[in-house]
Amino acid sequence: MTSYELPPLCYIRRRGNCRGDYLYYWTVVFALFYLERQVLTRHCGGCASEASRQTSIAIDFARRIESSVTRAARGRLKKVIAMYPGSFDPPTNGHLDLIARGSKIFDELVVAVLRNAEKAPLFNLPERLHMLEAMTADFKNVRVETFDGLMVDYAAKVKASAVLRGIRAISDYEYELQMALMNRKLQPDLETVFMMPAEQYSYLSSRLVREIAQLGGSVKDLVPELVEQRLKERLDPAIKLANARKLKPRKRG
Ligand code: PNS
Repeated sequence: MTSYELPPLCYIRRRGNCRGDYLYYWTVVFALFYLERQVLTRHCGGCASEASRQTSIAIDFARRIESSVTRAARGRLKKVIAMYPGSFDPPTNGHLDLIARGSKIFDELVVAVLRNAEKAPLFNLPERLHMLEAMTADFKNVRVETFDGLMVDYAAKVKASAVLRGIRAISDYEYELQMALMNRKLQPDLETVFMMPAEQYSYLSSRLVREIAQLGGSVKDLVPELVEQRLKERLDPAIKLANARKLKPRKRG
């Protein structure tokens, strides 16, 4: 708080809200400066410019007070940071849909990619991170990070008060409920928030996308174009060969 700013009365009183304070401040400040202006104008007629200077200082002063009251009132509303954990191998349109929904209701959303996946993933961690970063570049309140160990510990590290998880069908519910309740046992202050993706993604999963791509099926509309391209590069033998050739150093001669 700068020397200009007064604490809002509601802070001093520690009760009530700050709304009534606006009127109080504006009335007191204007009453004081009005009186001063009257005195200046009366006692030195030629000091009208000084009086207007004083008035503009008064307005500036009142504005500063008003903004400090607003800021103090806003400060009471807690910023909600949420974590959206997952394997994202690969990220799908369903994940993107959930990120878009989450970014609308949380102040900050941390997409957290699990580092110690049990099985060998199709895409390594930097690849998944890069795909997710490209997919979420337009969301200003979303960032992508990686995490290891317990999800609740990472949530505490990023100061998340909520965990976002998607529920596509009743079949997801049992597993998600178990995980949410276990996380609640580990960290009672952390809330799990379930959101439903758009209907067209209700049957979509990373596992199915991997399987379809591995068997040569089309994953168009299931994943963003970038992911589709990466899947082709990873799984299409012809592209694989071309890429390998590109990487081979050419013989000079
Ligand atoms: O995309 P997924 O595979 O459904 O994500 C599962 C994930 C990463 C959310 C879950 O495996 C997880 O949180 N792992 C971190 C370790 C952990 O905290 N385990 C206890 C869960 S109750």
